[in-house]
Amino acid sequence: MRLVVTGGLGFIGSNFVRLVLRDRPDWQVTNLDLVTYAGNPANLRDVEGDPRYRFVRGDIAEPEDVAKALGEDVDAVVNFAAESHVDRSILSAAPFVRTNVVGTLVLLEAVRARAGCRMLHVSTDEVYGTLEPDEPAFTEATPLDPTSPYAASKASADLLALAFAKTHGVDVVVTRCSNNYGPFQFPEKLIPLMVTNAIDGRPLPIYGDGRQVRDWIHVEDHCAGILTALERGRAGRVYNFGGRSERQNIDIVHRIIAQVGARPELIQSVTDRPAHDRRYAIDPARAERELGWTARWAFEAGLEATVRWYAERGDWWRPVKDGSYRDFYQQWYEERAK
Ligand code: NAD
Ligand code: TYD
Repeated sequence: MRLVVTGGLGFIGSNFVRLVLRDRPDWQVTNLDLVTYAGNPANLRDVEGDPRYRFVRGDIAEPEDVAKALGEDVDAVVNFAAESHVDRSILSAAPFVRTNVVGTLVLLEAVRARAGCRMLHVSTDEVYGTLEPDEPAFTEATPLDPTSPYAASKASADLLALAFAKTHGVDVVVTRCSNNYGPFQFPEKLIPLMVTNAIDGRPLPIYGDGRQVRDWIHVEDHCAGILTALERGRAGRVYNFGGRSERQNIDIVHRIIAQVGARPELIQSVTDRPAHDRRYAIDPARAERELGWTARWAFEAGLEATVRWYAERGDWWRPVKDGSYRDFYQQWYEERAK
C-alpha cells in the first residue's frame, strides 16, 4: 500500500502515521504537511529515519505540491491537514477556507485523476452544530448545522467529498469524530492548555460557566477507527467516531488540577467564546456495527495517562508554548480576561 497522509505533523496525523508504521509493516507512507504553527517535526522525530516514511513539505491547496506528494502510483490518501482551532477561526476565517475547503477540493481532484485511488477525509462532529441537554447524540443522518467558521469550513469540505463520490464516482469515505485528547496535542486545545498551565501555576481560562459538554475520545481510538474505515469503509459513506464520554469542561479541569497538584484558585472565568456550542455527543453505532470498531480507552484512565505524558514531556511542549503561539495567546486571552 502506497499511502499519502496530509497534515501528518499535527496531533492526530502524527499519531496515525506512527500507528500505520507499527501495524502495517509493508505500507509506504508519504506525509504532505505545510508545517504551519500546528505542524511540529518533533511529533514524528522517531520515524524520520524509517525507509518506509517520506516527508514532503507542501500545501494541500497547491496542485503542484499535491502532485509531488501523490506521484502517479498512490493507493490511498488520508486527509488530516486542516486549520483546526475554533478560536482562531473567530479571529480570522480566510485560512480555514483556503486549507479546509480549497485544499480538500485540490485533493479530491488529484484522487479523481488517479484510477483506483481511495481517499479518506477526516472530519469532525462540529459540523452537526450544538445539542440541547435532552437531545439524542449525533448520527450520520443528523442535518449539518455548523456554528463556527471552523465547523462551516469542515462541513463544506465534507459536502464536496460526498458530491465527488456521487458525481464523479470518486472512492471517498468521510469520518466525523468527537473531541480528541492524548499525546502531541497542540496546547491551544482545552486539555493540553489546562494541563500545561496548571503545571506552571498559570491561570486556567474557563469560557462562560464551564458547563459546556464535549464527548471525548482518546486519539489512539480515533486513529484505529480511521485505519478501519480506510480498509473497510464503503465509498460515499460517512462514519461517526466517538468515545461515549460526555463530560463538562469544568469537571475535566478539576480532575487535571487534582492530578497536577495545582491550586483550584487558578481557575479564571473569562468572556465566553461567541456562539459557543453548548453540547456535543456522538453516536458511533454505525462504525461499531459495520466496521467492527470500538473505543478502548476509558476517559478517566486516558486523561490520567495524558496528564502524565505532558508532565514528563516538557521538552516537547515548552518550545511550542514559547514560540509564535504566544502572540495568539496574548491577543485572544487578554481580550477575554475580565
Ligand atoms: P492540528 O492542528 O494538530 O494539525 C493540523 C496539521 O495540518 C498540521 O501539521 C499543519 O502543519 C497541517 N496543515 C495545515 N494547513 C495545511 C496545508 N494547507 N497543507 C498541508 N498541511 C497543512 O490538527 P488535528 O487536531 O491533528 O486535526 C486533524 C484533523 O482532524 C483535522 O482535519 C480536524 O478538523 C480533524 N478533527 C480534529 C479533532 C480534534 O479534537 N483535534 C476532532 C475531530 C476531527
Ligand atoms: P477546544 O479544545 O477548543 O475544542 P472545541 O471547541 O473544538 O470543542 O475546546 C473544548 C471546550 O473547552 C469548549 O467547550 C471550549 C472550552 N475551552 C475553555 O473553556 N477555555 C479554553 O481556554 C479553551 C481553549 C477551551
